[in-house]
Amino acid sequence: DIMREISGINEMEAQIKKRMQLQDVVIVPGNSDSTPWVKEELGRACAVSMKKRLIGKNIIAVTGGTTMAAVAETLTPDFTQKEVLFVPARGGIGEDVKNQANTICAKMAEQTGAKHRVLYVPDEVSKEVYQSFMREPAIKDVLNLISSANMVLHGIGDAITMAERRKTNQENMNKIIEAKAVGEAFGYYFNEEGEVVHKVKTIGLQLKDLAKTEHVIAVAGGASKAKAIRSYLRSAPHASVLITDEGAARELLKG
Ligand code: G3H
Repeated sequence: DIMREISGINEMEAQIKKRMQLQDVVIVPGNSDSTPWVKEELGRACAVSMKKRLIGKNIIAVTGGTTMAAVAETLTPDFTQKEVLFVPARGGIGEDVKNQANTICAKMAEQTGAKHRVLYVPDEVSKEVYQSFMREPAIKDVLNLISSANMVLHGIGDAITMAERRKTNQENMNKIIEAKAVGEAFGYYFNEEGEVVHKVKTIGLQLKDLAKTEHVIAVAGGASKAKAIRSYLRSAPHASVLITDEGAARELLKG
């Protein structure tokens, strides 16, 4: 529309798409750092992007975070007539309940009349626990669904903010700081060059799995997340779609 053209949003979308080699970029006006309802707009834009990409039967893997929670809030019963199953992308118990992927998937299913599955696994597991979880039939079942997801929705966080929110132990915290991590997604921490410098060991989706996922929709806004978004998009394989806001987009284009 005309407002988007005047404010240069269309042009910014085209530039970011080209620079980051993405299939699609959607920028909503405003900056979610300073204007809380901009996050709702990110949610709405994500819902539109999801809708466009639905097929007959869909498995949508979703991560945690406040942005994903905002996406869930914007979904409505008229979302789709198609078959949709929401699954948490990874184990994530440890975060605040309302920001956990399990809660968000349940909410998404409730809002749209779709189905969902849960993955009751902590976001950080020891090697022994990891191996015994992997033998659990109920968990294996969900893991199979996750690996056949045709769509992945996820947030991107500032590395230190996320490490603190996850109550990361001192040893890992030092590792993240020393390695100059700036971005986080799926429990992976990235430096400015987009290299993975730390990874939270949990079951479920791994970064390399994204290479075979048809649609990977990253949703992250706020000028404070620009560095994080850039670092994540520099890592390969990256998202196919970025939903962001003007605040983050302006900063992204400065770098
Ligand atoms: O897992 C968390 C995301 O990477 C970012 O979370 O949407 O609350 O900023 P957020």
